[in-house]
Amino acid sequence: MYSSSHYYLFHFCLLFVTCLAQTNFHPKTLFLAVKQDPSTLQYITQIQQRTPLVPVKLAVHIGSENLWVDCETGFKSSTYKPARCDSRQCVLARSIACGNCNTENITRPACNDPCYNIVSNPAMNTFYSGGEIAEDVLTVQSINHSTPGPDSRGPVVTVPKFIFSCSPSLYTQKLGKDVKGMIGFGQQSPVSFVTQLASVFKFSRQFAICLSASPQENGIIFIGHRPYIFALGFDASRDLIYTPIITHPNFFLINRGSPEYYIQVTSITINEKPLVFNKTLLSLDENEENGTKLSTAVPYTVLERSIYDVVSKAFISEMPKEVKTVPAVQPFKTCFDSTYVGMSRLGYNAPRINLVLHKPNVRWTITGANSLVKVSDRVVCLAFVERNQTFGQAIVIGGFQMHDNLVEFDLARRRIGFSNSLYFRQTMCSNQFYTM
Ligand SMILES: *[C@@H]1O[C@H](CO)[C@@H](O)[C@H](O)[C@H]1NC(C)=O
Ligand SMILES: *[C@@H]1O[C@H](CO)[C@@H](O)[C@H](O)[C@H]1NC(C)=O
Ligand SMILES: *[C@@H]1O[C@H](CO)[C@@H](O)[C@H](O)[C@H]1NC(C)=O
Ligand SMILES: *[C@@H]1O[C@H](CO)[C@@H](O)[C@H](O)[C@H]1NC(C)=O
Ligand SMILES: *[C@@H]1O[C@H](CO)[C@@H](O)[C@H](O)[C@H]1NC(C)=O
Repeated sequence: MYSSSHYYLFHFCLLFVTCLAQTNFHPKTLFLAVKQDPSTLQYITQIQQRTPLVPVKLAVHIGSENLWVDCETGFKSSTYKPARCDSRQCVLARSIACGNCNTENITRPACNDPCYNIVSNPAMNTFYSGGEIAEDVLTVQSINHSTPGPDSRGPVVTVPKFIFSCSPSLYTQKLGKDVKGMIGFGQQSPVSFVTQLASVFKFSRQFAICLSASPQENGIIFIGHRPYIFALGFDASRDLIYTPIITHPNFFLINRGSPEYYIQVTSITINEKPLVFNKTLLSLDENEENGTKLSTAVPYTVLERSIYDVVSKAFISEMPKEVKTVPAVQPFKTCFDSTYVGMSRLGYNAPRINLVLHKPNVRWTITGANSLVKVSDRVVCLAFVERNQTFGQAIVIGGFQMHDNLVEFDLARRRIGFSNSLYFRQTMCSNQFYTM
């Protein structure tokens, strides 16, 4: 009697598991291909959205709370559904206002009692508070972890009701050719790309970016679980070093968690020598000023002026004597004749910059591949820029410094993991099977 019920249970499970796998695939990891646009220096990805599905190019902004697109020009979809004021969608998207359809230009297929949130375009230096909240179909490519290697692309999966924001065409200025909006991966936002996908497919809220240094080759954004497999089976998640994500409670000075990713830099060393500057600049304050954030919206790491000066002086003095400085090339201020700058498999030979994080032994190491940029045949420049404004973060770690590093954002465990240069592992961000 016992053994027979056991037998039936066993068969029932087998059948059940098989059915589930065939009809209802639950991906653990999704991915997007990402490539730098050489003219705008933004990181561009493409999603499929609407009915019928169309490819939509978007600029990646890790520290932004939502996905937004231009709905004013050429938006057609039979599944588009605007959110109504005070609906669940408006609350999730952290709507800041409801409005009257007549007061703004018509930017979308239908308008009825709309709610709005903030659309940000850092390239224009603009926040627009009239992003109309809506939902529509969106699809993403998955990874099938049971077949590591060249066949590891899984099926395309569908999110039937992805919440996003509609903006007028005006706010896509400076996004480059055919780029229709931005895709946000921000923390503390229920509608960021990672949060919505994690909630639909029931995986933990995490994503990892790996930006390619070459504008000809795709890097990748993994959304969901590890492993992050590169060529020859190397799993970059094994190498990660972690630092806590710092959250800020008051985005725009209102009680609304900031989507930006802040970390604690406690000091900077160049060739192991600590730099001397005013360390109070390194603390994020109650007005969301100072401190350090990571951003894909800036191409080169931005340093507050006094910090830039100290970094630049130390970097120059640690360069070999035969390497001479040359006149600056915009937007850089510190440039060198590259004739005597050597090369290795880690890129240019350059003084090693360490960002020392929350603990002395947790360091983000920046080697020549991520500290020197070639601007002409004979000139390389320190790939950091000086902050022009009197406000903002003391350090904004930009795209160039993240090239060919894997950076994981683990929202559930509130930590950021970074691999340091994959060149140490003889690989790079384009060297995986998913986005070729
Ligand atoms: C509305 O359209 C007019 C004319 O095209 C334009 O000048 C104005 O900037 C638009 N307003 C918004 C909020 O997009
Ligand atoms: C994943 O790969 C395995 C092995 O090739 C295959 O049997 C399975 O059908 C794939 N799953 C999906 C959802 O494609
Ligand atoms: C450091 O900077 C803060 C604010 O910018 C200032 O109040 C403080 O006096 C500075 N400390 C030193 C030692 O210069
Ligand atoms: C933070 O930054 C602002 C603007 O740059 C500055 O006025 C302020 O003194 C800074 N705070 C500290 C603690 O350095
Ligand atoms: C600062 O201004 C200069 C000149 O306008 C510009 O080239 C540079 O890119 C700016 N730097 C930043 C960080 O915006």
